[in-house]
Amino acid sequence: MNISVIGTGYVGLVTGVCLSDINHEVTCIDIDEAKVSKMQAGISPIYEPGLDELILKNVQENRLTFTTNHLEGFAGAEVVIIAVGTPQNQDGSADLSYIKQAARDIAQHSSGDVIVVTKSTVPVGTNDLIRDILEDNKQDGQSFEVVSNPEFLREGSAIYDTMNGDRIVIGSQTEESGEKIKKMYSPLNIPYVMTDIHSAEMIKYASNAYLATKISFVNEISNICEKLKANIEDVTYGMGLDERIGNRFLNAGIGYGGSCFPKDTKALVQIAGNVDHKFDLLESVINVNNKQQAKQVEQLKDRLGNLQGKLIAVLGLAFKPNTDDMREAASLRVIEGLRREGANVQAYDPIAKENAKSIIGTEQVTYVDSTREALRGTDAALILTEWDEIKDLELDAFTLEMSNPLVYDGRNCYDLERLKGYPIEYHSIGRPPVVPAVAHQV
Ligand code: UDX
Repeated sequence: MNISVIGTGYVGLVTGVCLSDINHEVTCIDIDEAKVSKMQAGISPIYEPGLDELILKNVQENRLTFTTNHLEGFAGAEVVIIAVGTPQNQDGSADLSYIKQAARDIAQHSSGDVIVVTKSTVPVGTNDLIRDILEDNKQDGQSFEVVSNPEFLREGSAIYDTMNGDRIVIGSQTEESGEKIKKMYSPLNIPYVMTDIHSAEMIKYASNAYLATKISFVNEISNICEKLKANIEDVTYGMGLDERIGNRFLNAGIGYGGSCFPKDTKALVQIAGNVDHKFDLLESVINVNNKQQAKQVEQLKDRLGNLQGKLIAVLGLAFKPNTDDMREAASLRVIEGLRREGANVQAYDPIAKENAKSIIGTEQVTYVDSTREALRGTDAALILTEWDEIKDLELDAFTLEMSNPLVYDGRNCYDLERLKGYPIEYHSIGRPPVVPAVAHQV
């Protein structure tokens, strides 16, 4: 099948590359020339395990091309996939300007019968808008069908998720267009959900909002566990054995970040508000997450009295491991809080360091090249991302490198029993603190 993809962010690029890998002819269109040249040379503009190799393979086998030219990009396309960004407006609603532009570009530059597939996460009803723009701008000889086909891939395992997803959701106006998109994915052998367009759009928001709710719920339980001296890991293990609950996505931590959950939860509150429904539960989920991200700096301030002039190590900056993505990462809020309190930061992340530096800047923050360097001479350490490298750290690194081994672990990286053998004061999420017999005076 001849397929064009507009937008080469995480979703567009991974989708285009995976579709070419199952033998479709795919052209990815992006307005950024530097990015397109890189991709033509087989280099991924984003860090995603396995992506460079897959781009190169499919470019070399002539199934995958990249262009900035719409006319060239849409030539012969039977399916055009919209995967442009939907950033957040000030009020939390989704900014649809890139989506609208994509629809206008398709009407202007494509030809013949085209199925327009929306992969970007868009508010319920947006595909109606896309259809209207296409109809209003269409030229002689063109016909369009609109299909909603939301993406569920996770950064860091995006290729695996695309090739092995739990389901492919297809919302279509007609059975024929839905069946055609189903056929496009048939080599993947993933169960389909065939539905109407509005339901498909809602499945995406409801799924992300539900997952975010799971995280905020478990984080609230972890906060209560801390006060009651219970252990969240035993609690979630016990909960997860109930098959109705399940054991996945129950890790307590310093809150969710990334490009989807924070944005999509706020957008769903807006979508509900637009039809006069106040989504109380989801508003609480968002509030809990905001508090959770701010929690470590508060705890540290309480423990040390004040943070003025203190040197704090921050281990992990990306919003989760195996990505260089800094969007809505807890580190942004944590470092902002540390700065506000007058602390200086030594920060380390194996992959996201450069991205972080360009976003956070260097005021009161030094970026270093290893966990040990980040810990060197510090008054306390905050762990924000559970990279393997951080989880596998020899615990004596904290005692040998830090001025005072006081650790706040936002990702429960270490076993509590193991920690008891070290003179480290260790606070984690929803688990009893480990405090050495002689507490450190900072
Ligand atoms: C998410 C969804 O999983 C994906 O289906 C959707 O399409 C896009 O959003 P992603 O943002 O890549 O994917 O990351 P995910 O692995 O879901 O993690 C999101 C955030 O939740 C991270 O900050 C992570 O640290 C946090 N998280 C996740 C927890 O705090 N606890 C958990 O148990 C799981």
